[in-house]
Amino acid sequence: MGNITKIAAAAIGLAAVLSASAGEVEVLHYWTSGGEAKSVAELKKMMQAKGHTWRDFAVAGGGGDSAMTVLKSRVISGNPPSAAQTKGPAIQEWAAEGVLANMDPVAKAEKWDEVLPKVVGDIMKYKGSYVAAPVNVHRVNWLWGSSEALKKAGVATMPKNWDEFFADADKLKAAGLIPVAHGGQNWQDFTTFETVVLGTGGAKFYQDALVRLDNKALTSDTMKKSLETFRRIKAYTDPSAPGRDWNLATAMLIQGKAGFQFMGDWAKGEFLAAGKQPGKDFQCAAAPGTANAFTFNVDSFIFFKLKDASARKAQADLAGSIMSPAFQEVFNLNKGSIPVRSGVSMDKFDDCAKLSAKDFAETAKSGSLVPSIAHGMAVPPAIEGAIKDAVSQFWNDDKITVADAMKQIAAAAKTK
Ligand code: GAL
Repeated sequence: MGNITKIAAAAIGLAAVLSASAGEVEVLHYWTSGGEAKSVAELKKMMQAKGHTWRDFAVAGGGGDSAMTVLKSRVISGNPPSAAQTKGPAIQEWAAEGVLANMDPVAKAEKWDEVLPKVVGDIMKYKGSYVAAPVNVHRVNWLWGSSEALKKAGVATMPKNWDEFFADADKLKAAGLIPVAHGGQNWQDFTTFETVVLGTGGAKFYQDALVRLDNKALTSDTMKKSLETFRRIKAYTDPSAPGRDWNLATAMLIQGKAGFQFMGDWAKGEFLAAGKQPGKDFQCAAAPGTANAFTFNVDSFIFFKLKDASARKAQADLAGSIMSPAFQEVFNLNKGSIPVRSGVSMDKFDDCAKLSAKDFAETAKSGSLVPSIAHGMAVPPAIEGAIKDAVSQFWNDDKITVADAMKQIAAAAKTK
């Protein structure tokens, strides 16, 4: 055989091997902003390198509410994707429908039980079997700062408590800047609200009120104070906030137009995608009063039962890729989160991520590691939705009193 024929024969052989094991993965997600798209592209690349076809099923909309509506209609019509970005108690609800695949073969082969924190592994399992795989740990209780805007306003350090925060917000206002970049969508209102509750009452109170949904906590003076602080923040947002996407709010910090943003660390992915450096162009700090606590938000994918054997093989490879150290490193470097599995080096991560990793470990020990209610980790979706609506109604309508808002939130917490 001549060289050319040998190369051709090898290429045909390789193609045969790839096509024998190659399949399609259709992946539903809501990662469409700059930083998010860069992150999910890494998973696509990894799957393509294994010879599989990636069918992107992106549904825009921060926080994923629209994606979940679309997912429901696809599953009801009997045509689920291979995998869908879903997290927290919603995983159990999907599994109870009997539509999820058992991923134990890949989980056992790759020792997921050994590399995942038990609390995370438990969220991924239904009746003891893996039906989902996690990609990261996002921290929600962050306050982001624009170095340019803060400098202009004469704010030298990030505020540690609410008094400092409002004093700095006044300085930003006086300098003609927008103190708080906010996107008036109900999941963003809720994100700010849970951070205020954590920063006002601490982790134990947060747990009682927003995880255990204890009526006494929900109607307490601490909840009253939280709602008052939450409403006070609104006065520091701009009139164009209603409806604004979260990444456009982050862009206001990038452009030096606004000082602060309350947002989980996917905002860091946005700063990084714009070529900005932590500590230099932007600041990350635990939100006021929350330095010793951590609201966690673990993104994960659920896997659906599939008929086609090659699609099942591709799905197993997707699950394996998601949990691989190489993917967890590159994905989280882009996404702003930290790896969820052990055995991933933090060397390449920046100081915000290192702080997050340190606080994650410390709060896990101290008991102040709490699930984010705004990001689907704490309570079943129906209750989350009802409380979220009550919180946004209060945010949007200044005529609703704090006392009435408390009653509405407490009633929403009883949603069945
Ligand atoms: C969160 C999700 C993050 C991020 C954010 C904005 O709920 O966990 O990964 O994408 O929404 O869409």
